[in-house]
Amino acid sequence: MEARTALRLMRQAGRPERESGGLPRHVAIIMDGNGRWAKKHRLSVSRGHRQGTETLREIIRHTDDLGIECLSLYAFSTENWSRSDEEVAALMQLILDFFASEIDELDEKGVRILILGEKGRLPEAQRRVLLEAEERTRENTGLRLNIAINYGGRAELARAARELAEEVQAGRLKPEEITEAALGEHLYTRGQPDVDLLIRTSGEMRLSNFLLYQCAYAEFVFPETLWPDFTVEQYDKALQAFGKRERRYGGR
Ligand code: IPE
Ligand code: IPE
Ligand code: MG
Repeated sequence: MEARTALRLMRQAGRPERESGGLPRHVAIIMDGNGRWAKKHRLSVSRGHRQGTETLREIIRHTDDLGIECLSLYAFSTENWSRSDEEVAALMQLILDFFASEIDELDEKGVRILILGEKGRLPEAQRRVLLEAEERTRENTGLRLNIAINYGGRAELARAARELAEEVQAGRLKPEEITEAALGEHLYTRGQPDVDLLIRTSGEMRLSNFLLYQCAYAEFVFPETLWPDFTVEQYDKALQAFGKRERRYGGR
């Protein structure tokens, strides 16, 4: 049976998603390999990133079709500022282009967009577009699409700690009320389930500072394919691999 059909049937059968054999509620993807793809094809790195956005469209569409609740995509890390001015500028331009071409369709489908990361350091035009996308889709109830831009997991945790400290200082919170749940409420992903499945393309096997807290019990799949070549069929395979994992959460 084709992978996609099998996944559809699993959903139609209404299997509980948390159980082994079901679909993940929250998928996170580290979209890696644009640079190597460009090199392989003797193209500019900017062209590689542009090609990557084609994959991005397909993967978002497919995630929505499958009825998965949350999709988190790593688009630009706090460490990616260290790349050349030219590459950073190309990535910033892609943010504008992506939202200009996709926002209508995403909104129509009921996708709710949330930007993970500190928008303050972004250029004004990008900040505005991202805020507008969040505002426009705030009431939507479909796929929750988290896009991590100028995001770092450690920065996110430091920010949560700072906010909690401020609440304690203001007398609104007692130190003993700083629980795991309270910390989770101060993360960008507040109110969302933890990451169930993390996919990183291009064969690299590391988190690179992505969703450190939310991935505590995530299953990991590392396809060798470079992000611009990553297909919906390969995505289905990763979802199926997830379905076969036995998740124990420390139990027997
Ligand atoms: C991932 O592709 C996209 C971003 C980091 C924005 P890379 O640009 O890291 O691709 P490689 O790892 O150099 O192949
Ligand atoms: C992680 O990939 C960031 C994104 C995909 C946006 P990198 O390519 O920047 O990570 P490292 O440098 O290989 O760890
Ligand atoms: Mg990379």
